[in-house]
Amino acid sequence: MKSENIHPIFNSILNREDKEKLLNQKAKVIWLTGLSGSGKSTIACGLEKKLHEQGYLTQLLDGDNVRTGINNNLSFTNEDRVENIRRIAEVSKLFLECGIITINSFVSPSRFIRNKAKQIIGDDDFIEVYVSVPLEVAESRDVKGLYKKARKGEIANFTGIDSPFEAPESPDLIIETDNLTIDESINKLYDLVIDLIQAVE
Ligand code: ADX
Repeated sequence: MKSENIHPIFNSILNREDKEKLLNQKAKVIWLTGLSGSGKSTIACGLEKKLHEQGYLTQLLDGDNVRTGINNNLSFTNEDRVENIRRIAEVSKLFLECGIITINSFVSPSRFIRNKAKQIIGDDDFIEVYVSVPLEVAESRDVKGLYKKARKGEIANFTGIDSPFEAPESPDLIIETDNLTIDESINKLYDLVIDLIQAVE
């Protein structure tokens, strides 16, 4: 498709500030990265519930959900993971423009992938949270039974087993879920987020 024939409209539509004002909040993308079984989804759900109770409008995007919908044609090769995260970042940007606090829970295993998301979303709006746990702990939890399958060779390219995970270099927050309770983990994230999303008078 020729991009010269595409004419996006930006001036005539309401802008993000209009929507944030309506919602009485500031939008951000809270990006949780970490191994499968690190606790990302649990923390993301807990944060969303807490913010909802306080009147904030949020949207949760989660690997397993997105991969059964918009990204159901993608595998776990490096190339497909890049495309997975690119689409998610673009979708997040739409929510951001709508003034909505977007909580993302994706393995997003490489610095390259997370940088790509950050580029699309924008430095100021991309809040990187590393949900950190030793591989042995994630593997011993094995809530979905996937590590067991990966060890048996039934799943290829499984993060932490035969596909790498690169820890973020300077995340906005690290949550070590093997040292904290679920509530402590959620509260730690909440304390960071609440200051970023409050509307300025
Ligand atoms: S990402 O690497 O592309 O960011 P994403 O967060 O969307 O991954 O999906 C990860 C989820 O898919 C995991 O929580 C797990 O339940 C499931 N999954 C299935 N196969 C794999 C795999 N090979 N590597 C990692 N996660 C997998």
